[in-house]
Amino acid sequence: MPAATATSLSAADFDFVRRLVLDKSSIVINPDQSYLVETRLAGMARREGFASIGQLLAGIRDGTARQFQVRVVEAMTTNETSFFRDHHPYEALREHIIPDLMRKRASVRKLTIWCAACSTGQEPYSLAMLLRQHFPALSGWQVDIHATDLAVEILDRARRGRFSQLEVNRGLPAALLVKYFTKEGAEWQIKDEIRSAVRFEPLNLTSSWRAFPPLDLILLRNVLIYFDVSVKKQILTRMRGVMQRDGYLMLGGAETTFNLDDGYERVEFGRYACYRPRSGQPAATSPPNQVGVRL
Ligand SMILES: C[S@@+](CC[C@H](N)C(=O)[O-])C[C@H]1O[C@@H](n2cnc3c(N)ncnc32)[C@H](O)[C@@H]1O
Repeated sequence: MPAATATSLSAADFDFVRRLVLDKSSIVINPDQSYLVETRLAGMARREGFASIGQLLAGIRDGTARQFQVRVVEAMTTNETSFFRDHHPYEALREHIIPDLMRKRASVRKLTIWCAACSTGQEPYSLAMLLRQHFPALSGWQVDIHATDLAVEILDRARRGRFSQLEVNRGLPAALLVKYFTKEGAEWQIKDEIRSAVRFEPLNLTSSWRAFPPLDLILLRNVLIYFDVSVKKQILTRMRGVMQRDGYLMLGGAETTFNLDDGYERVEFGRYACYRPRSGQPAATSPPNQVGVRL
């Protein structure tokens, strides 16, 4: 059987993948991104014994390879991430956002945080390390870090908490590597004290969401960029419905609520800006649930 090649994608197959991915994840693949589909799917087709990407897609269409549908969608997600990505958001968390939330929640001693597109886990683990490192007072609090993503295989990697040398070289200060990781062969395993502080689970931002307790802090970083305007609007509005009135929403560097949802106000902290529901907006109504994870 000839191996699947990166040049085997017809216009009809490209169109099929674009519609499938849009339907299942709302991720928009642009008309000029045929190369991206080819590179992402060629390896999967070859590994699974298909003669070409076309044959894999034909099997999904006629039902004989239906089990690969989810994997095709997941293969088209971009999982680029790194520890302490972009630096300034974490500076804002350390200097302003977490101290402010701790003041406001001092009577309940509880913080609920959601990393809403967590990829392979560097983002929620960075947050857990930051809390551990700089806010020892939180050790007596209930701190829940929920981390979700669409891609199940990616979440398995996140849950394992095992990272390559290249991954830990990107953004992770040496002191934190030494303190919170152990070297296992060529890889680095995050210690249980950090790993167990994060609860990973699958969640598609464009489907129904499970009930979260009202959220104090939401990280929705570097994922809105993949959606069209109407999906961005819907997600931002839904986020406002699950967060505390005085909570914070953190977006990626190329993302904004501007022209998408007027219900947020921009809050600037040095070189970073995040968002907060405007006063007068309704508070989150989700019922409290879940047992908390202690940091
Ligand atoms: C570029 S990564 C961002 C990771 C991290 N937030 C960061 O900023 O480093 C985008 C993530 O969004 C996830 N994603 C894409 N579409 C999604 C959807 N509809 N629902 C949930 N997650 C989605 C992808 O699987 C991917 O892991």
